[in-house]
Amino acid sequence: MIFQPFLAILALLISSIHASFVSYPRPSIYDKSAHFSLKVNGTYAYTVSYAGYDYVQVSMDEGYDTEFRIALTAGDSITSYSISPAKLPISAKTEGNELVFSLTKAHYLIVKINDEKEFVVLLDPSEVDVPASSGSTIYNVLDYDADNTGKSLTKGIQAAMDAAAEKPGSTVYVPAGLYTIGNLMLRNHTSLYIAGGAVLRFSGNPSDYTTLYNKADLYDGTWWIQTEINSTNIKLYGRGTIDGNGYNTRKAKFMADLVVPVGTTNFTYDGVLVRDSSFWAVTPIQVTDALLTNLKILDRQDVTQDDGIDVIESTRVTVRRSIAIANDDSYSAKTWQYNVHTTVPYPYAPRELRDVLFEDCLAWTLCFSYKIGEGVWDVQDNVTFRDSVTYKAGVGIGIHHKFGSEIASNITFENIDIERLSGSPAGKATWMAIYVDDAGQGVGPLKDLTIKNIRARQQGKGDAYLAGYNESSIVSDVTISDVYIHDSKVPATTFEEMKLFHVSHSEGIEIVNS
Ligand SMILES: *[C@@H]1O[C@H](CO)[C@@H](O)[C@H](O)[C@H]1NC(C)=O
Ligand SMILES: *[C@@H]1O[C@H](CO)[C@@H](O)[C@H](O)[C@H]1NC(C)=O
Ligand SMILES: *[C@@H]1O[C@H](CO)[C@@H](O)[C@H](O)[C@H]1NC(C)=O
Ligand SMILES: *[C@@H]1O[C@H](CO)[C@@H](O)[C@H](O)[C@H]1NC(C)=O
Ligand SMILES: *[C@@H]1O[C@H](CO)[C@@H](O)[C@H](O)[C@H]1NC(C)=O
Ligand SMILES: *[C@@H]1O[C@H](CO)[C@@H](O)[C@H](O)[C@H]1NC(C)=O
Ligand SMILES: *[C@@H]1O[C@H](CO)[C@@H](O)[C@H](O)[C@H]1NC(C)=O
Repeated sequence: MIFQPFLAILALLISSIHASFVSYPRPSIYDKSAHFSLKVNGTYAYTVSYAGYDYVQVSMDEGYDTEFRIALTAGDSITSYSISPAKLPISAKTEGNELVFSLTKAHYLIVKINDEKEFVVLLDPSEVDVPASSGSTIYNVLDYDADNTGKSLTKGIQAAMDAAAEKPGSTVYVPAGLYTIGNLMLRNHTSLYIAGGAVLRFSGNPSDYTTLYNKADLYDGTWWIQTEINSTNIKLYGRGTIDGNGYNTRKAKFMADLVVPVGTTNFTYDGVLVRDSSFWAVTPIQVTDALLTNLKILDRQDVTQDDGIDVIESTRVTVRRSIAIANDDSYSAKTWQYNVHTTVPYPYAPRELRDVLFEDCLAWTLCFSYKIGEGVWDVQDNVTFRDSVTYKAGVGIGIHHKFGSEIASNITFENIDIERLSGSPAGKATWMAIYVDDAGQGVGPLKDLTIKNIRARQQGKGDAYLAGYNESSIVSDVTISDVYIHDSKVPATTFEEMKLFHVSHSEGIEIVNS
C-alpha cells in the first residue's frame, strides 16, 4: 500500500515521457498476413489475413512521431506503392525492402504495394475511458459462464447483459477471447465493452438465430446484435471485433445485419471493428440521436448487398472517423416502405430521415461510396457527406432515387476526394450519379443540393448525372462549386468538363466557383 503513491507518480512520469501504442493480440481464428508485415516504432504488430485484402489494427497516442515500416513478407523489393487517403499527404519512402513513414495522428490507410492485394492499416487514437474488467457496475461475461473458446454457442453474454440491465448505467465487459453467439439484445441504459482481442462471432448456422425478415432476392435474415425497442443511452464500444461470418452464412442461405441500433435514442458506438457481414452491416433504424465514431467496417467484396453503414429513417445521427469496405455501398441513407421484406421487424411506422452527418470517412466499394437511396419512401432532409475520401468505387457520390415518391432535400456533398473509379453499379460509372429511376415504385423530387469542393481524380468511364425523371420528379436548386477534375488546379467551369451530360428534368443548376 505504502508504495502506491510513488508508483502512481512514477507511472505518470513515464507516461508523460513515452507515448505508446497497442497492437491487439490476433484472435485465434485469424491467420497472420501472408503478404505484409508492419513494424510500429520497431515492434511487429499483429496483422490479419483476409479475403481480398489484409489488415492490421493498432491504437496509438497522437501528437508524437510514430514510425511505420511495412515490408512484403516474401522479401521482394517495393517497386511501386500508394497510400490512401492521398490528400493527407503522407510522405513515405522506401528503405531497403521496407516502406517507411511517420505519423503523429492516427488515420485509416489503404496501402497498395506493387501488384499485391491491398493492406488496410487501421490506426485509432489510444482508447479513453477503458472500463475495469470487474467492479460493482461491471458485468464480466466470464462470471456468467461465457465460453471464451468459441467452441459452443454461448448464452453468457446475454446473461451478463440481462443482469447488467437490473442496474441501469452498468457495463458488460467482454475480455479477449472468441465468443460464438446467437441473437444479442442490448438492454436499456447499458454499455457493452468488447476489449481488443475479443471476437463476437456469428455461427453461420441459421437455426441458431431468430428469423425476422425475408428478402425476396436473397434469403431469410436476422438482426444479430440489436438494441431493445424504446430504449435509451445504450453504448457499444472497445477495440474488439464483431465477425459476421458472412461468406459462410450466405452459403447456408441465411443473412444478418450485424449491428442494429433500432427504436433507440442517444446511442453511442465507438471503436469496435465489424467484419464479414452477410447483409447491410451496421443499420441505425428509426434511431434518434446517435454518434458512431472510429467505426471500421471490413466486409468482403465477394459477398453482395453487404453495405457498410445504412442510416435508415433516423434523426440526428453522426458517423465520424470511419472506414467502410464492402462490395455494396459504403455509406448511405435510406427511408423505406412499411412492413415489407426487410422492414417487417421495424418497430414504428415509417419515419422521415433528418440531420444525418457522415464525416471523415474512407470508402472502398464496388458500388456507391456516398449515397442517398435507393429508398426515398419518406422525406430525407439535411444529409451531409463531408471531409471524406473514396479509395475506389463504381460511383463516387450519388443520389439514386429508385423506390418511393418522396423528396430528398438539403443534401450536401462537401470536400470529398475521389481517388479511383472502376466498375459500373446500376449501369453508372462516374464520379457523380444523381438521378431518379422509375422502377414502378414511385418517382420523386430532389431539391437544394450542394456539391462543393470535390476532387475527381478519375471521372469514370461513364457520364455524370444530375437528372430528374418527369414533371413530378424534378432536380432543382443545385449549387456546384469547386469541382476539380483529374489533377486540375482550377475548378471546372462547364458541364462538359465534368462530363455532366445528363441534366434532363432539372432546373436551377448553378456552377459557382469560389
Ligand atoms: C515512437 O518513437 C518515437 C521516437 O522514439 C517516440 O517519440 C514516440 O513517442 C513513439 N510513439 C509511440 C506511439 O510509441
Ligand atoms: C414502444 O413504445 C410505443 C409508444 O409508447 C408503444 O406503442 C410500443 O408498443 C413500444 N414497443 C415495444 C416493442 O415495446
Ligand atoms: C428505458 O428507460 C426509460 C427511462 O429512461 C424508459 O422510459 C423506457 O421505457 C425504458 N425502455 C425499456 C425498453 O425498458
Ligand atoms: C447518452 O448516453 C451516454 C451513455 O452511453 C450517457 O453518458 C449520456 O449522459 C447520455 N446523454 C444523455 C443526454 O442522456
Ligand atoms: C442539419 O444537420 C446537422 C447535423 O448533421 C445539424 O447540425 C444542423 O443544425 C441541421 N440543420 C438544420 C437546418 O436543421
Ligand atoms: C431545407 O433546409 C431549409 C433551411 O434549413 C428549410 O427551410 C427547408 O424546409 C428544407 N427543405 C425541406 C424540403 O425540408
Ligand atoms: C411521372 O412518372 C411517374 C412514374 O412513372 C408517374 O406516376 C407520374 O404520373 C408521372 N408524372 C407526370 C407529371 O407525368
